[in-house]
Amino acid sequence: MPLFQSLPGFREFYPEALARRNHLFRLWRQTALTFGFVEYDAPVLEPLELYKAKSGEEIEQQLFSFTDKGGREVVLRPELTPTACRMVGAKANALKRPIKWFNIGEFYRYERAQKGRERSFSQLNADIFGEAGVEADIELIALLVQCLTAFGLTEQDFQVRLSDRDLWCYYLEALGLDEARVRALLVAIDKHERLGDAAFKNYADQFGPLDAVLKGKILAFLQIKSLPQIETALKPFSGGKLDARIADWRRLLDGLAAMNLARFVEVDLGVVRGLAYYTGFVFEAFDRKGDLRALAGGGRYNDLVKKLGGPDLPAAGFAIGDVTMGLLLEQRGLMPAFINAPDVCVAYDGEAGRLAAFPDIQTLRAAGVRVEYPLKELAFGKQLKAALESGAKLALIYGGDELARGVVKLRDLTERHEREVPREQVPAAVRDFLTGA
Ligand code: HAM
Repeated sequence: MPLFQSLPGFREFYPEALARRNHLFRLWRQTALTFGFVEYDAPVLEPLELYKAKSGEEIEQQLFSFTDKGGREVVLRPELTPTACRMVGAKANALKRPIKWFNIGEFYRYERAQKGRERSFSQLNADIFGEAGVEADIELIALLVQCLTAFGLTEQDFQVRLSDRDLWCYYLEALGLDEARVRALLVAIDKHERLGDAAFKNYADQFGPLDAVLKGKILAFLQIKSLPQIETALKPFSGGKLDARIADWRRLLDGLAAMNLARFVEVDLGVVRGLAYYTGFVFEAFDRKGDLRALAGGGRYNDLVKKLGGPDLPAAGFAIGDVTMGLLLEQRGLMPAFINAPDVCVAYDGEAGRLAAFPDIQTLRAAGVRVEYPLKELAFGKQLKAALESGAKLALIYGGDELARGVVKLRDLTERHEREVPREQVPAAVRDFLTGA
């Protein structure tokens, strides 16, 4: 019978691969904690309703959904944001503000599997609830940057593209477009990078023919790459909402500059994000070479907690995925070559040697030292060869001769020299060796 296969887009993690993923999780978790975010967890199976019409058309088409035995329509979660909103919304009054939460977990989307896109993937999600000002956006972008630089990536490797759905809405309204049209155009703008100008124009027309001059203005707004360009484009409409929004932009960019992060961040109004719930500043992180899919994405979603039945609570956040991030680190040679190496390998001579080694093995393991020994006795030479190949730094040799003299051999496997230590001093000698004392 042929070997069973896993499902397309569902990855298996053999130990070396899992060590690489753990490396991502470890640094993400450490970084989020440094920024004062606290960790939470949530169910992987959710009611279908949670995503319908809230996450947007694209995600809805990608849901892993089925009816459970109780007749409920359920979904393997495609993202965490609606769940986070429900959880925070349910206890909003009891939670200390600002609410800064993070989670690392697995998500499922029925996408066409391709480089950087799987059907199950992991994300770090970080979100701030209860803070409407740009202070929260600054904090999130700073965390996102550090979640990438913690691995040795620099501004030469990635950039955060910053945009603003509010600004888009205000601008399109100022051009005289109604709300339904604005919403439809934001979907077309999200697809612009993939479709190109000509296809975008056709797409925008699907919602009723759009005046050619207007289309030209929208395409020009899409190309904007700086705050002064925004100011110039908005001059004819100045006043009220638009002026206040430009002041927000200035505070956001000044804050990021003061955090010494300006070099990572670029204004790019071509970003509007595919998810339907975003309201204000939105951002995406990409590798500079541009041959990978997005590394991370996020933004404000001030209405979502309320739309899901909770209180009126402003919110913003982002998620980084493990797939693209892993590819980028490999490309840049920044993924450590993990060998699941023990600290110490034991070699022994016969049953007497094995039993003599056991108390030391127990003592060392209890002290947190990674110790391995052959479960079944092998020829002595084979044991030493295995110890060398394991990547361990030290071999402990319990040979017949040594035991007769009440000593154990410590062999430094890197420097290739050895010395004898009285048996009762073995644990202390190993600890000194490993700590370099
Ligand atoms: P998203 O842009 O859909 O946002 O996903 C964020 C990141 O997850 C992407 O940039 C990508 O790295 C990774 N990702 C998404 N889909 C896949 C896939 N099929 N295979 C591999 N990686 C993938 C969200 O999910 C929002 N909920 C983020 C957020 C949190 N917004 C506010 N808070």
